[in-house]
Amino acid sequence: MPHLHIEEFKEIEFPSSKDGVSFDFIADNINHKEERLISVKVEDDEFFLLVKNEEGRNLLKSDKLTRPASTYNVHKALATYAKAANINVISSNVPQNQKNIHLQEITALKDISYFAQNFPKDREIRIEVGFGSGRHLLHQALSNPEVLFIGIEIHHPSIEQVLKQIKIKNIENILLLSYDARLFMELVPSNIVDKIYVHFPVPWDKKPHRRVISTTFIEEARRILRVGGTLELRTDSENYYAYSYSTFIEFDRTTLHISKNKDIAVSSKYEDRWKKMQKNIYDLSMINDEESLELNIEGSFDFLDINLFKDNILKLHKEVHKFDGGFIHFERIYMLEDGVMLRLSMGSFDKPEHLYVIVKEDMAFYYPALPLKSKSNLCAHQFLNKVLHG
Ligand SMILES: C[S@@+](CC[C@H](N)C(=O)[O-])C[C@H]1O[C@@H](n2cnc3c(N)ncnc32)[C@H](O)[C@@H]1O
Repeated sequence: MPHLHIEEFKEIEFPSSKDGVSFDFIADNINHKEERLISVKVEDDEFFLLVKNEEGRNLLKSDKLTRPASTYNVHKALATYAKAANINVISSNVPQNQKNIHLQEITALKDISYFAQNFPKDREIRIEVGFGSGRHLLHQALSNPEVLFIGIEIHHPSIEQVLKQIKIKNIENILLLSYDARLFMELVPSNIVDKIYVHFPVPWDKKPHRRVISTTFIEEARRILRVGGTLELRTDSENYYAYSYSTFIEFDRTTLHISKNKDIAVSSKYEDRWKKMQKNIYDLSMINDEESLELNIEGSFDFLDINLFKDNILKLHKEVHKFDGGFIHFERIYMLEDGVMLRLSMGSFDKPEHLYVIVKEDMAFYYPALPLKSKSNLCAHQFLNKVLHG
């Protein structure tokens, strides 16, 4: 995680800007005086920098929840803030170099709003979930130039590595997204995807709720796959395979194929590792045999009038409310010069979203981005609306 170890945090004037970076406001955690968030804009990216004291060290780093895919923009924001505030940096893992020319020209990296607004539908579509080193994704894209590949990953260094390869190999049929694939599935239109690859997902034996494969993931996969489209799981974990099989077999009107130690055209980094260790590799593919209803999620993330006084908003701290199909947790509260900011986790239990909401006198809004338009997020939003409406 990019960070600066600093001698002492110093405030600048807000709002202000320097070297193409704007710093709009600062938010103070009301329960942890030393923790603060600084809102930043670099190019089209809006995110927070986090000021924190960890184990006696003052750190200025990127905020995990809002961190953009462009590590370069995070580096730039950190270095520019330190320069603007004249902060003494003790050590840092932020390079001073210029932006990599390859990354500058890359248009393959999209954000979630690109897909939410106008999902590409003009070509055959295949999705790879958790592409890691990208060997399989790159190989497939080069072998099938007429197909559009969407690669989804949550690990930033993997995304940057694959972006470089896309540029070097001049590949034009890959789009990458830095997002939780389980949430992404909920905005894909129905019946348009040809293949979904899930190769060597993390087995999460001790935290099964974090697994990619689940009943809801398969439901969404079925909905977005066209008739005859396939979901391909490849795993070295016998336990994960057995769990997945018992989850897949619950579904009607699907065809399942199972194979063991099948060689495929390209071996991923993980696969090479397991093969060297002579582990078995299991393939489970599900063919969708049924057309699904169109995706129809109605609702908005607008807020009604805000009637809850600040003191009552502060009392929400740590409250958890559960409702049918989801929950909302008021994790942290921050003071702003002209309002308060809430950090929430909300939505469905197995794949919650973490978000910030700013509340000022008589208005509220999500910042810097709206939640994904899913049924459970809309339910959580309705609940939040009622709470803030008073
Ligand atoms: C064990 S690695 C396998 C990588 C690659 N498929 C391969 O075979 O080498 C699993 C990858 O899935 C990614 N991942 C885990 N959960 C994810 C999620 N919910 N959405 C997107 N990617 C995820 C991880 O960051 C990691 O890179």
